[in-house]
Amino acid sequence: MGPGPSNVHPRVLRAMSTPLLGHLDPSFVEIMDEVQELLRYTFRTDNKWTLPVSGTGSAAMETAIANLVEPGDTVLLRTKGYWGDRMAKMARRAGGEVVSLPTPANEPVDPADVTEAFYDHDIDVYGICHADTTTGIRQPHMSELADIARDHGAYTIADTVTSLGGVPVTVDEWGVDVAYSAGQKCLSLPPGASPFTINERAIEKVLNREESPRSWYLDLSLLEDYWGEERAYHHTAPITNVYSIREALRMVAEEGIEDRWERHRAVAGELKAGLEALGIEYNAAEEHWLPSLNAVEVPDGVDDTAVIEYLLEEYNIEIASGLGDLDGEIWRIGCMGHSARRKNVEYLLAAMEDALAQQGYTA
Ligand SMILES: Cc1ncc(COP(=O)(O)O)c(C=O)c1O
Repeated sequence: MGPGPSNVHPRVLRAMSTPLLGHLDPSFVEIMDEVQELLRYTFRTDNKWTLPVSGTGSAAMETAIANLVEPGDTVLLRTKGYWGDRMAKMARRAGGEVVSLPTPANEPVDPADVTEAFYDHDIDVYGICHADTTTGIRQPHMSELADIARDHGAYTIADTVTSLGGVPVTVDEWGVDVAYSAGQKCLSLPPGASPFTINERAIEKVLNREESPRSWYLDLSLLEDYWGEERAYHHTAPITNVYSIREALRMVAEEGIEDRWERHRAVAGELKAGLEALGIEYNAAEEHWLPSLNAVEVPDGVDDTAVIEYLLEEYNIEIASGLGDLDGEIWRIGCMGHSARRKNVEYLLAAMEDALAQQGYTA
């Protein structure tokens, strides 16, 4: 019940013990096709260039930045946020110049600030974190933000690492140009194969770059030789991770993406009601609540680390502390994928009540 990795379903673990096929074996190519189709379903997109990046969520993030950002491009980001700051570091390495939004780390981005930034600067690429794992805040207005960028001729990149497969992500409806994610959150698969999708408009920019991306490994035009029609060797795919993502995505399709979103909302809703009954407050306002990551305030007089250790030692439950400025201020409780189950929530609530009582806390 931490911020990821979430528990992996036994079906996915079993799929990972399947004997290896060659990365160009016709049977493996069929598996690749299936993974790509299932990824389109999960992202709610028809984008042809949709594939799992070999690596963790940061590799998928860097695939977006390294390909879309050209030397001299201006990139708009909310750099006070943990993930926007990571994107900014990557954008600078790609030769881009970063313009920072003024939004504090602990608030969603206001479209009015984005509009103003677009009037003040000639922005080429805009990065948005949809689901912030550090603050438990869900960014609303995704379509509006993508529209602002498109109207100014810019491209949007959406980080859906902590939302894909658990919280509504609708790439085509939002109109974002690129979206990426990771396996170890709401998809419940081991880190290593990270969902990525890019639309035709952004592919045009990538294919017409004046110079190649600085990363060879993450160069989309080369990756597409392997994941596209040609099926030519680029690097040896992490076969076992591809098995795992296929099985996890099959489970998404069997459950149905909308039912899966609803399960996360309902189960995390029970967690929220239970924690609030214990007198624990949420970091995010109700309208920005992120069901997959519940960031809650540590009550006054309670030692956050002692509670984390007690839950782990006595109950075998993992939750996490805050990162950066929120260290010591919040706990981060995941409700993701195979871990988003009622019995987990009930167990955690009982354990939390005990852990707080050990600290002398009463609601
Ligand atoms: C929102 C967000 N973006 C990006 C990442 C980076 O992913 P990874 O740690 O898999 O490289 C994370 C990791 O937790 C994340 O929460």
